[in-house]
Amino acid sequence: MTVTPASRRGPGRAPDRIVVLTGAGLSAESGIPTFRDGDGLWERHRIEDVATPEAFDRDPALVLRFYDMRRAAAATAQPNPAHAALARLSHHPGVTLVTQNIDTLLERAGARDVIHMHGRIDGALCAACDHRWTAPAAMAPADPCPACGRPRTRPDIVWFGEMPYHMDQIEQALARAQLFAAIGTSGQVYPAAGFVDFARAVGAETVELNLVPTDDALDRFDASIAGPAGRTVPAWVEGLIGPG
Ligand code: OAD
Repeated sequence: MTVTPASRRGPGRAPDRIVVLTGAGLSAESGIPTFRDGDGLWERHRIEDVATPEAFDRDPALVLRFYDMRRAAAATAQPNPAHAALARLSHHPGVTLVTQNIDTLLERAGARDVIHMHGRIDGALCAACDHRWTAPAAMAPADPCPACGRPRTRPDIVWFGEMPYHMDQIEQALARAQLFAAIGTSGQVYPAAGFVDFARAVGAETVELNLVPTDDALDRFDASIAGPAGRTVPAWVEGLIGPG
């Protein structure tokens, strides 16, 4: 493990403004597959078949079935120690917690105000009128929207080619960040992959926590902590705000 500036700061000496970005690696130890590792979801499914607006227009039943399976997997997964540690951190003043994950394991671990930039698998959205409601276990193309009645219901998640949610709020937090951490994300999908550059440009200290350092990690981050999130994240959080 790399010794980080954060760990030299001493326990309980967290900066006033921290932004944490999480990715699929955070939930890997909870049994939810990542996207780009050896057994990742994008090894088994083509993005253009299941994760674009065009795919939904072409074959809504296939797309809805794909997300039904992911909803079921997310519902049975349990938060791991990394979720629990970030949940504790989220109650610390000045912390902004952003996730690319569509599962709700951070909330189930007790985190507050989690910003889901890629949406949530437990949500449904009407593509016709933008009404949102709690997704049923299984969604079908003919399901009518509870508000407008049209059969244009989709999961409330962000597909490739769509704008991630809450970007203004995230950019405001990044603009004031003193510490930015990217946890369990490969840094291949923008705009999230560019947050570290934004944070660096405003003078924040930057750190990644990942199973293995991502490509160019030490060019892009001040420090890289390698290891499974369930082990590294609790230690990192303890280094920031002390033991729970
Ligand atoms: P990826 O699958 O691209 O990357 C997951 C990262 O987690 C990799 O760098 C792994 O090395 C790391 N990892 C795996 N297990 C880990 C563990 N136990 N502890 C720590 N790190 C671990 O997933 P994301 O970067 O989250 O978007 O993917 C970003 C976006 O691409 C997703 O939100 C999704 C996907 O397509 C949409 O669907 C719009």
